[in-house]
Amino acid sequence: MPARDLGLPVRAPLPAPGELPARVTIWEVGARDGLQNESAIVPVAVKLEFLDRLADAGLGVLEATSFVHPKWLPQLADAEELLAGLKRRSGVRYPVLVPNERGLDRALAAGVRHIAIFASATETFASRNLNRTLDEQFAMFDPVVSRARAEGLDVRGYVSMCFGDPWEGPVDPEQVAEVGRRLLDMGCSQLSLGDTIGVATPGQVERVLDLLPVHLVAVHFHDTYGQALANTLTALRLGVSTVDSSAGGLGGCPYAESATGNLATEDLVWMLDGLGVETGVDLDSLADTSAWMAERLGRPSPSRVVRALRG
Ligand code: HMG
Ligand code: MG
Repeated sequence: MPARDLGLPVRAPLPAPGELPARVTIWEVGARDGLQNESAIVPVAVKLEFLDRLADAGLGVLEATSFVHPKWLPQLADAEELLAGLKRRSGVRYPVLVPNERGLDRALAAGVRHIAIFASATETFASRNLNRTLDEQFAMFDPVVSRARAEGLDVRGYVSMCFGDPWEGPVDPEQVAEVGRRLLDMGCSQLSLGDTIGVATPGQVERVLDLLPVHLVAVHFHDTYGQALANTLTALRLGVSTVDSSAGGLGGCPYAESATGNLATEDLVWMLDGLGVETGVDLDSLADTSAWMAERLGRPSPSRVVRALRG
């Protein structure tokens, strides 16, 4: 189905549909980015069932939890218990977030093989989210990445607030690229560019991607202003082939109050199915899972596609 039939904003000139990737890897963040933002603390048994159902739906990367300070994120304080109870599926990766060496020690003890560090593109968010200055965050991450690499772990590097910051306003693309390059130089195998508060528009996405090696970049959009799919399509046309999303559109960011949900995985899969781009995800099974999770959370899913399919 052509993009214009999906009602997406079209920024001319768009390359031919053949230039879209044949397959997109969906990096499912619902169990981490989604649940970290719920005011309710979801029981570990529910989280485990959620992860199982997401694997059943065909998702191959399930970000499971974070080894951060439990006082900073009580919703994920059960990280050890979760990993101990996790039935790892063959062919499925279960990355976790790790901010510092203490987090890495905990992740290694829990048998983790795949981690993500999370940097900020702005000074204010580095302070609020990590209790560090922009520069100090690299000193915190450096030993994490080198130790993790020496242990044979794969390390992803998030960059948050890539397009706008609630305290600092618009973010200079050069500043984002500089943070991204430092993470790649440190040894991250992939960057994930986060529109943490969901303000980006496609032109901004193009400007940031022009400054980075796109084959090493994933995108992580929030849908606050309804731009997440347009931004995703722009990134795909520029050579990105890994997209972060959250089942049912769960999530936000506890240290950025204006952030609403992540791009919903169902909305992403609906668009990619329509474009003939493979994801390996069964939309019906995924929508059932998000409807099930919405019941557990006691509120409807914000995903347009979940609402259209499951009422
Ligand atoms: P700090 O207070 O500066 O930590 O926090 P510290 O290094 O000064 O240590 C203080 C105490 O905390 C020590 O204990 C440490 O052992 C302990 P004490 O010696 O006093 O008894 N500690 C820990 N305990 C358990 N696990 C740990 C850990 N680290 C220290 N890992 C810190 C610094 C980074 C830890 C804190 O700021 C933190 O945990 N921040 C995490 C915040 C967070 O998770 N935010 C959400 C994720 S980012 C996000 O969602 C954006 C993203 O999704 C992209 C997007 O959406 O755009 C990625
Ligand atoms: Mg997010």
